[in-house]
Amino acid sequence: MKILSGIQPSGQLHLGNYFGMIEPMLAMQEGNDYYVFIANYHAMTSVHDGEKLAQGTLDVASDFLAMGLDPERCIFWAQSDIPEVQELTWILSTITPMGLIERCHGYKDKVAKGIVASHGLFSYPVLMAADILLYQPDIVPVGKDQKQHIEVTRDIATKFNNQFGETFKLPEPGISETTAIVPGLDGQKMSKSYGNTIPIFLEGKPLKKRVMAIETDATPVEDPKDPDTCNLYALLKLFAAPERLQEIRNLYINGGAAYGYLKLELLDLLNEKFGAAREKKKEFLADPGEVRNILRKGAGKAREKGLPTLEEVRRKVGITY
Ligand code: ADP
Ligand code: TRP
Repeated sequence: MKILSGIQPSGQLHLGNYFGMIEPMLAMQEGNDYYVFIANYHAMTSVHDGEKLAQGTLDVASDFLAMGLDPERCIFWAQSDIPEVQELTWILSTITPMGLIERCHGYKDKVAKGIVASHGLFSYPVLMAADILLYQPDIVPVGKDQKQHIEVTRDIATKFNNQFGETFKLPEPGISETTAIVPGLDGQKMSKSYGNTIPIFLEGKPLKKRVMAIETDATPVEDPKDPDTCNLYALLKLFAAPERLQEIRNLYINGGAAYGYLKLELLDLLNEKFGAAREKKKEFLADPGEVRNILRKGAGKAREKGLPTLEEVRRKVGITY
């Protein structure tokens, strides 16, 4: 199965990203033809600081490598190293109906959050369609918020196929309905836009401060509490071993669950789970040349895979003369 996913380098990765996207994605490396790229052109729609974008690209690449993405088993690159993507974006944009893009709620949501309503932000789904169609994957794993963009990709591909003859395979969105929404410090969905995250690579005192800031109610320790409405419990559930989780659950139900103590337990579990990846990341950050090499090597392979599709498209639309 050919699988493709893209990640924007637009902020520190957090536990929501880990359980919603990274963990399932790393599991799919095995036995699939896997394409993963850093969508730095897409991030330009919200990051307008050159140094920050360049560093963010190396940072998120280091994060994925440190967490176990294996560039020998998949093709891993940065979007901006593939000029063919821009060419395909333009070609696709000439057949994309305005109405299709006007319906996208991703654009409206971002503008509502205060991101400048640029032409790039508006045409974001066309670049995403080019990212996908250039490599002809079977499945594109995305979060629920990106589902509409895959539908737009399928619509654009169908329009092209109808106009110029069968060219693009229609990709399926890979949406895991079972992935729980990870709550943030305040119990809302964990998201960098809400400032309520626990970043995966945060360590020491700053990490402890975040964990201690998880909002809990004022029920006294000895009183019974409902574990299923407590966001501290929801986070513990992601990390604690089943037997320990059952013990914690009993403490909630029967009384005796001390939030401060459980937060420190969560802190230990976080350090245990991500300690090795944090050390590995430091090695990559100390050697950005190595990370660049990995991405450039991946870009070479990705270009080779995408070029035949673009050549076919160029011929069909008549740009090759
Ligand atoms: P953010 O909301 O912090 O801006 P992104 O939109 O960049 O995060 O999300 C990248 C990926 O991580 C998406 O696939 C999304 O579905 C997943 N994700 C983000 N936050 C959560 C969360 N709280 N719970 C589960 N998955 C999440
Ligand atoms: N828009 C996606 C997100 O914000 C990132 C992305 C860009 C992407 N191009 C893609 C995801 C192609 C999958 C396939 O999460």
